Amino acid sequence: MPKGRTVALPSTPSLPRWLRAELRSDHAGETGAVWLYLGLKQCSRDRAVIEFAESHLETERAHLNLFEQWLDTADKSLLIPLWRLAGWALGAIAALGGPNMVYVTVSAVETFVVAHYGDQIKALERSRLYPEVAELLKRFNADENLHQAEAEERVVLQENAAMHVWRALITTGSALAVKAARRI
Ligand SMILES: [Fe+2]
Ligand SMILES: [Fe+2]
Repeated sequence: MPKGRTVALPSTPSLPRWLRAELRSDHAGETGAVWLYLGLKQCSRDRAVIEFAESHLETERAHLNLFEQWLDTADKSLLIPLWRLAGWALGAIAALGGPNMVYVTVSAVETFVVAHYGDQIKALERSRLYPEVAELLKRFNADENLHQAEAEERVVLQENAAMHVWRALITTGSALAVKAARRI
């Protein structure tokens, strides 16, 4: 149990199977997010992009740390090296494509994340179970919402066919990653 937390979270082996699977996907997703921003930071030469990546990276590290400390080993994805690689590669490719591609990429990723956490929050609220977990996910999702908005407002070239395809690819890829991370 991490120190300094005001509300205690339930130990993950005590949680229902569906919720453990969801949390596994969150841990995988936050891993991918950290490595996405690392890829951006390491591969971009644009000062504004680097600063943007550094500020988001700090938040994602805090999210990841919480899952790292909270989740039981059995509730973490076995594919962590893959999520790191995929996140980093996505960041690197976006960085090579220049600032507009970076912000489109981050906007697409964070839009997906906001919907993903949003679905989990709704499911928890419907079940009336584990309000402390719902609160945690809401807190994280507020950060992701901010990340999405900060990226979106920096996008200069929106109506571009290649960017639409790129966004769709990211959404599909993220959905596949979530599916895999719920299981493995
Ligand atoms: Fe995050
Ligand atoms: Fe984020």
